[in-house]
Amino acid sequence: MKRRDFMSWIGVGVLASSLPIAIAACRTTDTTADAPTRDDGFTEIGSVDDLDSQAVLTRDDVQGIPVAVMRDPASSEGVLAVNTLCPHRSCVVEWDSEDSLFSCPCHDSKFQANGDLVDGPASGGLEQLDATIEEDTVLVRV
Ligand code: FES
Repeated sequence: MKRRDFMSWIGVGVLASSLPIAIAACRTTDTTADAPTRDDGFTEIGSVDDLDSQAVLTRDDVQGIPVAVMRDPASSEGVLAVNTLCPHRSCVVEWDSEDSLFSCPCHDSKFQANGDLVDGPASGGLEQLDATIEEDTVLVRV
């Protein structure tokens, strides 16, 4: 084997072995799935204590879609929920607490907490979902 071929194989090996670490580093959301969905279509997302301590609750898979829930800035009693799939090309947007916006890591579209579009290239907002609090539980309906 030539030195150049050997070095290429080493490079491929390093890339392949570091890929799972890179993917894990990019995942910042909770991967909790399989939360039971009630007859009225609501799914338990977490507790009010979790919501208040984390500011945003995210789940990767609620009935097949990723969601984010947060307190409604306009109403301390209310909660907002959105489908976090970007309408541009379906990357999962992330909450930017510094700017108080959802930001898309793929092409930098920006969305308000309620999902309204702030800046493209997306041409529309995030899908808004029903959310509510019952006792100490945060619920979302997709
Ligand atoms: S996928 Fe979100 S801006 Fe392109």
